[in-house]
Amino acid sequence: MKKIQIGSQTAHVGEGEEICRVLADEVEALLKARAAEGKMVVLGLATGSTPLPFYEELIRRHREEGLSFANVRSFNLDEYEGLGREHERSYWAEMWKNLFDHVDVKPENVSVPPSISEDADVASAEYEAAIAEAGGIDWQLLGIGGEGHIGFNEKGSPVESRTRRVTLARKTIVDAGPSFGGEENVPTHAITMGVGTILEARRVVLMARGASKREVVRRAMSGEVGPEVPASFLQNHGNVGWFLDHDAAEF
Ligand code: PGA
Repeated sequence: MKKIQIGSQTAHVGEGEEICRVLADEVEALLKARAAEGKMVVLGLATGSTPLPFYEELIRRHREEGLSFANVRSFNLDEYEGLGREHERSYWAEMWKNLFDHVDVKPENVSVPPSISEDADVASAEYEAAIAEAGGIDWQLLGIGGEGHIGFNEKGSPVESRTRRVTLARKTIVDAGPSFGGEENVPTHAITMGVGTILEARRVVLMARGASKREVVRRAMSGEVGPEVPASFLQNHGNVGWFLDHDAAEF
C-alpha cells in the first residue's frame, strides 16, 4: 500500500483487498490487546457497500483463525426511520446479515439507532448516553457519501452535531433508490450519530472505493473544512486514516 499526500492529509492507497487486510489487522490487534486485559473494545460500524469486503475479512479471520468478537461492544452510525428492524434494508438487518450473524459478538453488545421510536430526540439522547457509558468509541469505521456525508450527516451538518433525527439529502435518496426498488420507497429520514459524536472516536478510518468517490474524497481531504462537505471535518481529527482504492485516489 502506498501513501500519498492530499492537502494536509495522508491517504493510504491500495487494492481493495489489501485495504481490508490492513484494517482487519488494526481491529485484530485492538481486540487481542484488550482481550488480554479482560477489557471490551468499542467499535463504531458503518453500513453501505464499501465495508462489505472488510466485514468478509473479519468473518474469515473468525472462522479460520479463531479471532473472537466476544469482547466487542458496537455502535452503528445510523439507521433509516420507519422501516423497523425486520425490514431487509434496515441497517439492523444488514449488519446481522453481513457481520454479526457470522461472528461470536454477544447480541446484547450490539447497538444500532432505532428505526422506530416514540420520540427520536429521546432515542438519540439515549444512544449518546450508551456510547458514553461504554467509554466512548475506540475505532470508528466510515464510508463517504457522494456529497461528503459521514453517517447520515448531510451537507450542512455542524461540527458539534450529536446523534439526532435528520432529513436525507436528495442525492442520498437517489443513490439508495436501486436497493429499495425505487426512490419512492427510500425513507426520507434517519437517526444518525452526529459529526461531533464521530470526531470523539479515538481512531477514525474512512474507506472509499471507486471513481464515483474521487472528487468528493479530494474535497474532503484537501478542501475547506466545514459543513459543506461534512467529511472534511475529519481533517482536524488527530488520528484519522483515509483508505482509498486506486480508482478513488486518481486525482
Ligand atoms: P456506499 O455508501 O458505501 O454504499 O458507497 C457510503 C455512504 O453513503 O456513506
